[in-house]
Amino acid sequence: MTKKLVVLFSGEGSNLQNLIEKLHLKTFGEDRIEIVTAFSNNPDANGIKRCERFGVRCEVRNHKYYDSRESFDQALVNLIQSFTPDLVILSGFMRILSPVFTSQIKAINIHPSLLPLFKGGTAMKDSYESNMKVAGISVHWVNEELDSGEIIAQKCLEKIDGEAFADFKERMHTLEHQLYPEAVLKVLGLEKQIPV
Ligand code: GRF
Repeated sequence: MTKKLVVLFSGEGSNLQNLIEKLHLKTFGEDRIEIVTAFSNNPDANGIKRCERFGVRCEVRNHKYYDSRESFDQALVNLIQSFTPDLVILSGFMRILSPVFTSQIKAINIHPSLLPLFKGGTAMKDSYESNMKVAGISVHWVNEELDSGEIIAQKCLEKIDGEAFADFKERMHTLEHQLYPEAVLKVLGLEKQIPV
């Protein structure tokens, strides 16, 4: 059976590319995964070029042209539903989602902190600047409250004294690139089918 994914992003798209490379058109046991479309609300997002490079369809709708958050979300829901995906994946999608979206779409998100710590858009910096000895990342279900849905998977990162923010960020991204595909397979019930 083919498991259909839709991936939403707004910017760089490194997690999107990683998901394409590790999961798209790959077979896991009896099942195959296909990213049926990616989607960006930002017409300048670098991830759009990544889609072109890998031949993955990408839909773009600029949220600025909608008169309310809800009308954009409903248009997005309609678009997503037209692809009948098994799962929607938020991958650096920089939009607060209204109940119009969260009540109709089953989606997961990756967040650069050990939730429930450091919710919101400055999580990477907040984790870096905190006096904690560890940082980490979380994959969670999306619900109507920002970064608050049930946690699916987490990974920790030991902080290094004096490490530059750019290096910390790179280590966090590397960890995200390991965890997100694993978490997607877990949610799809395919993790036991990964060849060892
Ligand atoms: C990641 O750090 C992710 O945790 C957060 O947004 C960032 C997206 O990075 N939600 P990229 O666009 O995948 O490179």
